[in-house]
Amino acid sequence: MKKWVLITNDLPEAAFKTLSAKYHVTWNKKPLSEAQLVSRVKPYHALLSTLSDPISRKVLEAGINLRCVSNYAVGYNNIDLSAAQEHSIQVTNTPDVLTEATADIAWALILSCARRVPEGEKMVRAGRFKGWHPLLLLGQDLRGKTLGIYGFGRIGKAVARRGRGWNMKVLYHQRHRERPSEERAHRAQYVPFERLLRASDILSVNCPLTPETRHRFTSREFKKMKRTGIFINSARGPVHREADLARALSKKWIFSAGLDVYEHEPQIHPKLLRLKNAVLLPHLGSATVETRSQMAILAARNIDRVLSDKPPLTPVPKTTK
Ligand code: GLV
Ligand code: GLV
Repeated sequence: MKKWVLITNDLPEAAFKTLSAKYHVTWNKKPLSEAQLVSRVKPYHALLSTLSDPISRKVLEAGINLRCVSNYAVGYNNIDLSAAQEHSIQVTNTPDVLTEATADIAWALILSCARRVPEGEKMVRAGRFKGWHPLLLLGQDLRGKTLGIYGFGRIGKAVARRGRGWNMKVLYHQRHRERPSEERAHRAQYVPFERLLRASDILSVNCPLTPETRHRFTSREFKKMKRTGIFINSARGPVHREADLARALSKKWIFSAGLDVYEHEPQIHPKLLRLKNAVLLPHLGSATVETRSQMAILAARNIDRVLSDKPPLTPVPKTTK
């Protein structure tokens, strides 16, 4: 008997094409609320979900036929992993295929902040460009500076690798120190968190959102950064406290910040919207044609593997709680 799959959101057609040959697929094109997911999930054996879908305990418990939740994202903080585990529902994500695109968006933010690209762009469009001036929109050099990475996983390493083009010194911090061979390969040095704050010219957040990383960056941390420092978050918004970041930027505790993610996404702290030294993107980390279509195929293949009683290609790690 054909099994049932729900694609919860609009995404590249490759996912539907891959799955519809073998399964009954419902392709929902607009985001569903938790209540809508609860009321619809029952017939489905697998969900292809996106990072804005609240796959809560309620949803998972209503999904009495569910065997797989395949998240179309590398992050999976939208899914209650303990509940999934209790109900033997396999959770998968889409790592690797989006590493380079996401590192590129971190660098788009780094360059935009350092060279004040959006400010310049706005000035030109507003008709305020009155000719070259020796002191117009002076930014910061990147060459030889210190790049600090918080969360040295696949994406953090790809951000670090790009820093070599600017001859940057790379420091990193995370819960576990990498093996020395890994550190050498990435020409990166492990430092305590306090040192990362004080020594980084650019501080890039590339960690997953966990209870431990939530609100890791608050006023206390921003005050310890260099006044010329640039804070970048292309991982998950709640890793910083947004009101504190807005204060740090308006009081010039740091030079600027580049964000692709927000604490209360899609809402953005109103103070941030008014600040010239904040560069703000609408969660575009993996948003390229190539990457999104590879994510769609990987997410679909994970579902097919689980529903065919095979191990998925990219399972998320089991929680220990
Ligand atoms: C994007 O934020 C992702 O987790 O894939
Ligand atoms: C800048 O345009 C220069 O020529 O220095």
